[in-house]
Amino acid sequence: MLLSIENLCVKYGNIQPLHGISFHVNEGEIVTLIGANGAGKTTTLYAIARLPPPEAPRVISGDIKFQGQSILATTPSDIVRNLHIALSPEGRHIFGNLTVLENLKLATYAREKGADLDKEYEYVFNLFPRLHERRHQRSESLSGGEQQMLAVARALMTGCKTLLLDEPSMGLAPVLKYELFRKLKQLNEEGMTILLIEQNANLALHLAHRGYVLDTGKIVAEGTSAELLGNPEVKKAYLGG
Ligand SMILES: Nc1ncnc2c1ncn2[C@@H]1O[C@H](COP(=O)(O)OP(=O)(O)O)[C@@H](O)[C@H]1O
Ligand SMILES: [Mg+2]
Repeated sequence: MLLSIENLCVKYGNIQPLHGISFHVNEGEIVTLIGANGAGKTTTLYAIARLPPPEAPRVISGDIKFQGQSILATTPSDIVRNLHIALSPEGRHIFGNLTVLENLKLATYAREKGADLDKEYEYVFNLFPRLHERRHQRSESLSGGEQQMLAVARALMTGCKTLLLDEPSMGLAPVLKYELFRKLKQLNEEGMTILLIEQNANLALHLAHRGYVLDTGKIVAEGTSAELLGNPEVKKAYLGG
């Protein structure tokens, strides 16, 4: 088991987005956490990445383990640098006034000296040729889909082996969604472990090996993607009947 979330509760002041959730991700898997707006998906990823929430102090109980060790005391930069876990955040958070290349370069701050970055730029530009065409353009001039690809590419430039993706399909035209999800599949086939957070349950379950359904801070269903796609309650609530 690579990543395990054990009875995780998160409170922001007197708001409690997570009420004791447990799930795990094995090495090499794509696992999806699906759920409606406000279910606690982003809260979960921020807790794993050890990032502070945007406002409000956070109180956590339960545990988050990576390779069997608790990571609750690990700093966000050590999550990236030592554990090779990277987050592609909801809303992308790219630096609009920087070029594509500059955004990618920023993500390499934590890399070891001597890392072969040329090879990695080549890899991400191969994966996302459109980013290569636009590499000297200011990022704010990219389309929504291209910005989403940049957010994923930037996470990859950290040298991560585990990728946390927060709603990568949000706001993308269908063609771009499918293109992005094909790239995610390719990444996984090359060895990347992926935890995918999505509101688009249909898309997510067609990519992932397994999934969990989060409803107002609780896991209410879990199984292989095929099981969840066939689950009548999941169908009714998340798959449009
Ligand atoms: N920084 C915060 N301070 C206070 N409440 C928050 C904060 N972030 C999220 N929440 C609340 O926690 C709940 C879950 O939010 P979130 O994890 O963003 O859900 P999701 O990503 O599934 O849409 C929501 O009710 C939201 O308003
Ligand atoms: Mg969210």
